[in-house]
Amino acid sequence: MAVSDCRLIDLPRIQDPRGNLTFIEGSSHVPFDIKRVYYLYDVPGGAERGAHGHRNLQQLVVAMSGSFDLIIDDGRDKRTFHMNRSYFGLYVCPMIWRELTNFSSGAVCMVLASERYDEKDYYRDYAEFLRDAQGAR
Ligand code: TYD
Repeated sequence: MAVSDCRLIDLPRIQDPRGNLTFIEGSSHVPFDIKRVYYLYDVPGGAERGAHGHRNLQQLVVAMSGSFDLIIDDGRDKRTFHMNRSYFGLYVCPMIWRELTNFSSGAVCMVLASERYDEKDYYRDYAEFLRDAQGAR
């Protein structure tokens, strides 16, 4: 799996003078069944999140409010996405190292995940991630 397998998904938008609405259905707007939702909020200025990879987990990352940068890295290629729209989600496939930086004040980062939380699925060590990611090519 590579950075080129990650992509921005343009989510449905129901525009309405009373306020816009976006919805996300598992296996339809995201290519997996949603087993877990979590969100980052109250992120202090200058803080960085992420800095890990996942063996099997698939995710969709959405800036629900405010903005942040999402850096994805497959051990060969890297891309940075500036996330600032609640109708775009970045699909992150397995075997991607990710870092979240530059959170604006009031930013909320929502993540839809294909699996429940499992610490064994994480790579917390970049060298170990690189070894496996490069070994799989
Ligand atoms: P972590 O995934 O490292 O956060 P981030 O990628 O946003 O920097 O998780 C931080 C802590 O929260 C860690 O101790 C595990 C715990 N956690 C859960 O218990 N359940 C979850 O669904 C998530 C995402 C994290």
